[in-house]
Amino acid sequence: MDLKLKESKVVITGASRGIGKSIAIAFAAEGANLLLVARGQETLEQTKTELERITSSKVEILSCDVTEATAPLEILECTKDRLKGVDILINNAGATIRNMDIEANWRASFELNTFAPLLVMEALKDELMKSTHAAVVNISSIFGREYGGPAQYQTSKAAQIALSNAYARDWVTGGIRVNNIAPGSIAFEGGSWGNRLISDPEGMAEFIRVEIPGGRFGRPEEVADAVVWLASPRASWVVGATLPVDGGQSRSGT
Ligand SMILES: NC(=O)c1ccc[n+]([C@@H]2O[C@H](COP(=O)([O-])OP(=O)(O)OC[C@H]3O[C@@H](n4cnc5c(N)ncnc54)[C@H](OP(=O)(O)O)[C@@H]3O)[C@@H](O)[C@H]2O)c1
Repeated sequence: MDLKLKESKVVITGASRGIGKSIAIAFAAEGANLLLVARGQETLEQTKTELERITSSKVEILSCDVTEATAPLEILECTKDRLKGVDILINNAGATIRNMDIEANWRASFELNTFAPLLVMEALKDELMKSTHAAVVNISSIFGREYGGPAQYQTSKAAQIALSNAYARDWVTGGIRVNNIAPGSIAFEGGSWGNRLISDPEGMAEFIRVEIPGGRFGRPEEVADAVVWLASPRASWVVGATLPVDGGQSRSGT
């Protein structure tokens, strides 16, 4: 299937490693031009180099913390200057935050998982409206739809899904489709599940037996393939959806 993404301009937050990096690779394979955002400059540069080996697409990078007040404007300026516009925004930067006191954990979780995607969407709205196939995909979690993970993670991811659904109805009138992807437990080298597979293989085997009917952890490329399709013009009538990519792990249905 031709996803009709050649030369599309795609902004991806949290794109230097893990799921975000796989999303970048999948868009590059479709011939899209990319702006990759993350905090760590060195990892961003490594990812850019890797991508440039496999694609002739333009790969731009921006080192920035999406929770900083200046970040949305910085991403907008970079989008205009270096990508010359934007067709697709993937809000992927997100995390489980639990090493501070309770209030700090909750505030930081909402800053990263809820407010940052919201404010980047708002900043890029006018540029997205100029596109013929504008789309936003927010990377949430199955734990934004049902019990799992720390409460501040569940709640901030649930808010991200709720805001995406609200925006989906409002923004489709301006030609921008907004959808969510809800990954289940995804393992990769250096990621939290990947690390636990090494430190606690027996515990993880039991976790998989009880929690994941598909019989293994998901792979970042499996999330990326779903994201790229959902963001593409081939999903032109899909609006306000939350697509689980989880091997049957979630119990909340689709
Ligand atoms: N892995 C899973 O099992 C799983 C399951 C469900 C949902 N998810 C969701 O999927 C998304 C990606 O998860 P992942 O496991 O791939 O995460 P990850 O391996 O920790 O990668 C996160 C990416 O986001 C960047 N990042 C983190 N905080 C940032 C900030 N404040 N500003 C800008 N960039 C930031 C990181 O780079 P820097 O650190 O250099 O900034 C990195 O590129 C997250 O939203 C997560 O909640 C993951």
